[in-house]
Formats: sequence, structure tokens, C-alpha cells
Amino acid sequence: MTRTVRFHELGGPEVLKLDDVPVGEPGPGELLIQVEAIGLNRAEALFRSGNYIVPVERFPSLLGAEAAGVVLTSNAPGFEPGQAVSVVPAFSMNDYGVYAERAIVPASAVVHRPESVDAVAGAAVWMPYLTAYGALVEGGLRAGDTVVITAASSSVGLAAIRVANRVGAIPIATTRTEAKKAALLKAGAAEVIVTSAEEVAPRVLELTGGRGAEIVFDAVAGPGVLELARVVAPGGTLLLYGLLSGLPTPYPGFELGMPALSVRTYTVHETTTDPERLRRAVAFVSSGLRDGVFEAAVDRVFSLDDIVEAHRYLEAGQQVGKIIVDLRGTS
Ligand SMILES: NC(=O)c1ccc[n+]([C@@H]2O[C@H](COP(=O)([O-])OP(=O)(O)OC[C@H]3O[C@@H](n4cnc5c(N)ncnc54)[C@H](OP(=O)(O)O)[C@@H]3O)[C@@H](O)[C@H]2O)c1
Repeated sequence: MTRTVRFHELGGPEVLKLDDVPVGEPGPGELLIQVEAIGLNRAEALFRSGNYIVPVERFPSLLGAEAAGVVLTSNAPGFEPGQAVSVVPAFSMNDYGVYAERAIVPASAVVHRPESVDAVAGAAVWMPYLTAYGALVEGGLRAGDTVVITAASSSVGLAAIRVANRVGAIPIATTRTEAKKAALLKAGAAEVIVTSAEEVAPRVLELTGGRGAEIVFDAVAGPGVLELARVVAPGGTLLLYGLLSGLPTPYPGFELGMPALSVRTYTVHETTTDPERLRRAVAFVSSGLRDGVFEAAVDRVFSLDDIVEAHRYLEAGQQVGKIIVDLRGTS
């Protein structure tokens, strides 16, 4: 039996229950891992409440797609018991979930964890950096380009700042509150726009000499895209990868007189479920980790017993970076 977080109905954080369930044996292509740390993601709060892009197919449902741990049993080539690994989001939470002391995961979603990366960092770096790499670098961001990053204090936003700097691009970050401005500058933002105090479009156009940004990387969506689309440089892309606003999102091209504007949605699964793209992404992120320029941005660490509180904290939106559940010493 293993302690596993499940939910038996849709709802707020309080529907999360710690159940004792048999974990079973890994099938072909699967691994059983001892989970040492879990990285929490907005997607899990959305899945739990029935608002994710993938609906919950059955109850009780598992949860969680990002973790670090050690292989206990391997039924897949390339993995041996005792190896330190990270689980990256490359599967549906209807099939697997890592909010547990031990979990079965598909080997296709598992990467070897370098010695320099401990369990907490190993549960904190992959979703943010794979998302930022897949969207920005594979999306064509080049040295000298400008990228506007909204909700930049999120774990993906912070990773996007570092990825942009890594390729020689110029990251302009946005946050709703002055309180997070210093942290964003420290993370490497060239400029920070506090959206409660300043309009984004005039400032970005001023900073780019009227050209605009080659990529706008937006996690908020909703009506705000009308303003964001105004700052996309001709031929550039408005890349929508989250819906933090929770509001319907208009297509902005007609309002602007049909400019050379691409609007594109992106999920990290594009990158992680394609073995060749995942191989390139892991190589890029690993090189940044080795060089020490891609850091884990950990905001707060909870225990598995406090999973309800951890989800409440995630949804309150005060964090700068990642929220982690640390299981070491508890199982
Ligand atoms: N497409 C993908 O594959 C993919 C992968 C990972 C994450 N995501 C999405 O990326 C976003 C960030 O995820 P995360 O887990 O890194 O971080 P997160 O914890 O969801 O991000 C929290 C930050 O977002 C900002 N925020 C929250 N609600 C907002 C709102 N209504 N309007 C504007 N900003 C808001 C806040 O920053 P300020 O207070 O500084 O404004 C907050 O600190 C989420 O939307 C998530 O679903 C997408």
C-alpha cells in the first residue's frame, strides 16, 4: 500500500484526500518510483476543479505530472533500480499521477537526474524549462529578439526569462504587483512592467523603438490579448500557453486591421510526447543546469500531509516560482 493523493469528486483543494492504495507492479514500458519531491502545477488545480483542457474521466482520480525520485522497479530499457530520475509532464492525469509516496509512471516521461540536481530541484525545473524551451526556442526566438513574458513570476515565467537570456534575446516581464518587481529583475528581466500601474503596450513599444516584440509569451489570455497583440512586431507571434484570467479570449487580428500576426496556442505536451523534440529539449535544459544558469525557482515547500494547504497556496497566486511537496523522510 502507498499513501496516494486522490480526489473522489471535482471541487476546491479540500476534495484532495490521502488514501492508502495498492501501487501494483509496473507494466511493460513503465517504472515504479519512490517519489522524493513533487512539483505542483496550475494544471493540477484546474484538473481537480474540472476546468482543465482534459476532463477527469473517472473517480477516484490520481493527480500530478512532475516529480523527482528514485527507480524502485524498472520494466523499461535504460532504467535500473536505484537511479535518480525526474518525471516530466508527458501523460494524461487520467492514466498516471505522481502525488504519492510511490508511483508507476511511463518511462517515456522519465529523465535521468544529474547528480548536481537534488530532489527538490529535480521536481522544480523540468515543467518550467521544457515549457519555456519548447515555446520560445522551438518557436523561433533568436538573439536580439524581444520577448514579452506575462505572469512572469510564475515558474514558467521565471524559466522563460532565463531561456530568453540564454539565447541572447531580451525578456520584458510583466507582473500585477510592484511587490514582485525586484525578484523579476534579479531573475534577469531586462525590464519589468507592473500592470496595475502601467499599460503594457505603450511601454513595450517605447522599449523596442516602436518595433514591438517578436514573441509575446502569455499565460493570462482573456480580453488582455487585444492589448498584447498590439505589441507583436510584424511577422511575430502571440503565443498563448495558459488561461490564468479564466475569461473568454477574443481573436485580436481583425481589431488591429489584419496585421501579419500569428496567434498560437502551445502546451508542453507538444514537446514531451515527441521523443525527438523531448531529446532536444532535455539537452538544452541539461546544458543550462550544468552551467548553473538554469536554477530551480522554489517558492515554498510543503509536506504530503499538507497537500490541501499547498493547493490553496497555489491558487492564492502569491508565489514567485514553484511550490514543492517534499516527501523525503516521511515514507
Ligand atoms: N501550456 C503549457 O504546457 C503550460 C505548462 C506549464 C504551465 N502552464 C500555464 O502557465 C501558467 C503559469 O503556471 P505556473 O505553474 O508556472 O505558475 P502559477 O503558479 O500558476 O503562476 C502564478 C502567477 O501567475 C500570476 N497570475 C495568477 N493569476 C493571474 C491572473 N488572473 N492574471 C494575471 N496573472 C495572474 C501571478 O503573478 P503576478 O502576481 O506577478 O501577476 C502568480 O504569481 C499557468 O496558466 C499554467 O496553466 C502552461
